[in-house]
Amino acid sequence: MLVLGIESSCDETAAAVVEGARVRSSVVATQHDLHAEYGGVVPEIASRAHEEHILPVVTRAVRDAGVELQDLDAIAVGHRPGLVGSLLVGLSAAKALAWSLGRPLIGVDHVHAHLTAAALDGEPIAFPALGLVVSGGHTTLYAMASETELTRLGATIDDAAGEAYDKVAAILGLGHPGGPLVDRLANEPGTDDRAFDFPIGLMQKDNLNFSFSGVKTAVLYEVRGRPNPPTLPGREPIVLPPPPELTEERKRDIAASFQRCVCAALLRKTEAAWARHGPFRSLIVGGGVSANSRLRREMTELGERLGVPVRVPPMKYCVDNAAMIAGLGAVLLERGHRDGLDLSAVPTTAC
Ligand code: KG4
Ligand code: ZN
Repeated sequence: MLVLGIESSCDETAAAVVEGARVRSSVVATQHDLHAEYGGVVPEIASRAHEEHILPVVTRAVRDAGVELQDLDAIAVGHRPGLVGSLLVGLSAAKALAWSLGRPLIGVDHVHAHLTAAALDGEPIAFPALGLVVSGGHTTLYAMASETELTRLGATIDDAAGEAYDKVAAILGLGHPGGPLVDRLANEPGTDDRAFDFPIGLMQKDNLNFSFSGVKTAVLYEVRGRPNPPTLPGREPIVLPPPPELTEERKRDIAASFQRCVCAALLRKTEAAWARHGPFRSLIVGGGVSANSRLRREMTELGERLGVPVRVPPMKYCVDNAAMIAGLGAVLLERGHRDGLDLSAVPTTAC
């Protein structure tokens, strides 16, 4: 079965054709340059760019797959979660194609698709599995009975891991999106990842939620200095010393220490979820932050300790792409799932 996937939830316009879990083509048009000067995604700019990119991207994905539109068996589309104006562009294109070709339309949850990306071009995943999505918008642990039966075990109560990476990159003046830049800096030779002892949020083992705003604020204070405490009536104001100069060496050590603390939190909660909700037959890590070098290494080591396979998507399918949408769409198609042309764009994930 050939499934076309369409993705436009945030700042990537993407289309892909899969045959089961095998990727025949995957095209991604990123808008990073358009948003870079604002330090984050501007929704209106994103929607307009999606409109410009959607037809060329779909056309190319179909051509690269070596097929014709009529060969497609279904059209899958990421319809949640995301920026509604952005989602609507991909969703409208998918509806038009499904209707005009007379093929089923299948709505896919983008967050869940980040996990099934781990099966693309690889072996099927063994279920039940423990899934961790670490992206720019989500940090969530799931118990997965199958690709489509997910129970949420815990999630971030503030920033997502990728969001914290992006904000720390902005504080360090590195650029956007910041995750890969912080990762690269943290891996420079001679870097000390113990130079700073940043907080690891929600340490208690029985709490499967995450918190990354504390570590982010700790980095901010390290770079810009702590705010002076309020002056009490009749007391001298307390003026804290300015922070040391932000040398290249200090930047590297901050990046590496931040990365160590974020990964420690992700590992700790994953291990706790495993102990509490297992046994599982595999551990899946997906989403943009699953491209992180330290996280991939430490999760692989965790899998070895637990004696289970760790499934992480190939690098190109960690960050947003449409192959993951088509891949989960293919699973849903096989299980008889169909959506109507009234499918809506939804800002939140299904669970
Ligand atoms: O999954 P994704 O492409 O978009 C969302 O669904 O949110 O994830 C994007 C996030 C960004 O925050 C980006 O900085 C982060 O993934 N990211 C990384 C790395 N590559 C991308 N974070 C840490 N290390 C990386 N190597
Ligand atoms: Zn994503």
